[in-house]
Amino acid sequence: MSSHNLFGFILIILHGAGAADVPECTGTVQFNPPKNLDTLIWYPTNSSVVPTFPMNYECLYQINVPQGWSSYIELKFLPTTNTTANNSVVQVIDFNQRVEKLDFTLVYLECTRCIFSIYYTGYDQFYFIAPGGRIKISTKDTSAQFQFSVLWFSEINPKDYDYANVTGLDTQPYVTDHLFQGIQVTAETRVSIIAIPSSDPSYRGSYMNKLRSILIFDGPSVNSTCLGTALQLLHSNRQYVTSGRVVTVIPLPKPTYLNNYQLMFQDFKNTKDITEYRGVSCQGYCDPIIMDGSKSPSAFSTFSDSGFANDCLMSVSGTGNLDVYYGGKTDSKSNLIASYSEASNELMLPQLLRGVVRTYVLTGGIATVNITHNLEICRSIKKNQKGFITSPFYKTGITFPWFGYDSINVYSDTPYKYTFNIQDVDLSKNSSLQLSVFNNNSRVYDIVYNEINLPSLNQSVNAVGTRWTIIYACNKTGDYFINYDVVKVNSAPSYLSNFPVTVLSIWMLLRIIF
Ligand SMILES: *[C@@H]1O[C@H](CO)[C@@H](O)[C@H](O)[C@H]1NC(C)=O
Ligand SMILES: *[C@@H]1O[C@H](CO)[C@@H](O)[C@H](O)[C@H]1NC(C)=O
Ligand SMILES: *[C@@H]1O[C@H](CO)[C@@H](O)[C@H](O)[C@H]1NC(C)=O
Ligand SMILES: *[C@@H]1O[C@H](CO)[C@@H](O)[C@H](O)[C@H]1NC(C)=O
Ligand SMILES: *[C@@H]1O[C@H](CO)[C@@H](O)[C@H](O)[C@H]1NC(C)=O
Ligand SMILES: *[C@@H]1O[C@H](CO)[C@@H](O)[C@H](O)[C@H]1NC(C)=O
Ligand SMILES: *[C@@H]1O[C@H](CO)[C@@H](O)[C@H](O)[C@H]1NC(C)=O
Ligand SMILES: *[C@@H]1O[C@H](CO)[C@@H](O)[C@H](O)[C@H]1NC(C)=O
Ligand SMILES: *[C@@H]1O[C@H](CO)[C@@H](O)[C@H](O)[C@H]1NC(C)=O
Ligand SMILES: *[C@@H]1O[C@H](CO)[C@@H](O)[C@H](O)[C@H]1NC(C)=O
Repeated sequence: MSSHNLFGFILIILHGAGAADVPECTGTVQFNPPKNLDTLIWYPTNSSVVPTFPMNYECLYQINVPQGWSSYIELKFLPTTNTTANNSVVQVIDFNQRVEKLDFTLVYLECTRCIFSIYYTGYDQFYFIAPGGRIKISTKDTSAQFQFSVLWFSEINPKDYDYANVTGLDTQPYVTDHLFQGIQVTAETRVSIIAIPSSDPSYRGSYMNKLRSILIFDGPSVNSTCLGTALQLLHSNRQYVTSGRVVTVIPLPKPTYLNNYQLMFQDFKNTKDITEYRGVSCQGYCDPIIMDGSKSPSAFSTFSDSGFANDCLMSVSGTGNLDVYYGGKTDSKSNLIASYSEASNELMLPQLLRGVVRTYVLTGGIATVNITHNLEICRSIKKNQKGFITSPFYKTGITFPWFGYDSINVYSDTPYKYTFNIQDVDLSKNSSLQLSVFNNNSRVYDIVYNEINLPSLNQSVNAVGTRWTIIYACNKTGDYFINYDVVKVNSAPSYLSNFPVTVLSIWMLLRIIF
């Protein structure tokens, strides 16, 4: 079938939907669970052709849900005339009286681009717990296709739970890597929860609405007050905070597999002064992140599974001070890695930031922060700059998921003078740290530190080259922190650039001898 014919076919379907299917609205329509819970309840009919509702049609549908039960709604709504007006709406009002207005203008524009999506747009999932929720249609100046089905489930408490504890001493928050079973987290004081979106664009958009099925309860069971859904949490740009020490999170049926979204749990002791707090993720360059820390701290956290991906902090513009923590913000600041302001851009940025979770906290101003997950930006030197390289899990107490081998290269097109000093390194338990500088692939500086050959901390060495390599080998645990300062050199005769290295090598030889 050509797309032209298909379009005609779809138009026939759209117009063929009988007005006979559309009942008159004579007041709120009540929906209660059927005797047989396998029965799908349809409104207005189960017709595979979605019925078309006339202009100026208004009605309210009440879906009742008994205590401990849930209902699952699939809803289709699509204005049939090409209106970009906002008049024709369906609103979904959930068990917490929170209203979600479905954005059909967007849906309509989306489907003008892609003919097949006409079949699927306007189709959305909603989940209600007791006492239930409402759906409100108001077609106003256009007719609209509208249909929904309801299914009830008599048990919301999941069979399986993950359990975790968080305390004010933790530098690393607890992050779920899946949302397909229950999660119960206990804090020392209260639990802070944020949602981190998927970095994959194909899991954004309507896929993200599946987060409506994840409910967050303020207490030790599904009978506790529901704080909201993971989608509401994500859109709030705030943390949810429990009133007691325990939070319970459950996925509602029908099951959805949300492996690409994370919930992050911390002790509220550390996050209590933060007002604006969101999870950020992206592929490549993130949209600029606007933070308002003028009245109280504003924060965002990023996550990379197993610490394989990292952030490259590009720029901070505006006012205020940006603190970067590996892990979560802590009162002790033991895992505070660096602080930036607009003035840092010139010399201190870009900067590579590693770890599984990174938390950025802005205080005393309003700033726009640019980060990217394109690590080449951070590893290739283009100008004079200062910065640091850390082990991936520095100060977070996380053990290496792989054996314990970490290698980082920093490089430039033309020779730079690499000056560096080791501020902190763990060389116990057979760990080693190798630092090398190469100039056009010839090794001009090389040293291996270990338990026998310990470095002098905070003592700078330098070498001129086009690549600096750091290799750290450890047995599951270990940390290092190295400061660097790179300055472009004019192409100098090679004997001159190697001079400091030669001196250093002799010095080391002497050190070994004596
Ligand atoms: C609609 O319901 C009728 C009976 O109520 C049933 O015979 C029919 O198979 C259903 N159609 C669909 C598409 O589910
Ligand atoms: C629908 O409206 C959009 C935006 O105004 C317009 O670009 C498009 O051509 C219209 N489509 C039809 C079928 O009228
Ligand atoms: C629809 O609503 C959006 C946002 O609320 C607004 O920007 C837009 O101008 C509105 N369009 C019309 C036609 O009213
Ligand atoms: C949480 O702490 C409690 C009390 O100290 C302990 O019994 C429980 O095993 C801990 N749970 C986890 C998952 O560590
Ligand atoms: C929730 O409350 C119901 C009664 O209202 C009770 O039967 C059930 O055991 C409770 N569930 C939990 C997990 O406490
Ligand atoms: C931040 O990123 C945006 C978009 O990538 C870019 O337009 C802007 O210039 C960047 N700001 C700074 C200060 O680098
Ligand atoms: C230390 O490392 C070396 C080489 O990596 C290995 O051969 C040796 O067995 C290790 N020693 C201990 C005590 O783990
Ligand atoms: C490195 O290579 C570049 C071009 O390949 C050359 O211009 C430069 O002189 C070389 N530097 C040294 C120190 O060999
Ligand atoms: C090295 O420098 C860091 C940061 O300035 C400092 O905390 C540490 O005490 C210094 N260590 C030594 C051995 O000088
Ligand atoms: C790592 O440490 C464990 C326990 O301390 C030891 O048994 C093992 O041999 C070590 N492995 C290496 C390769 O050093």
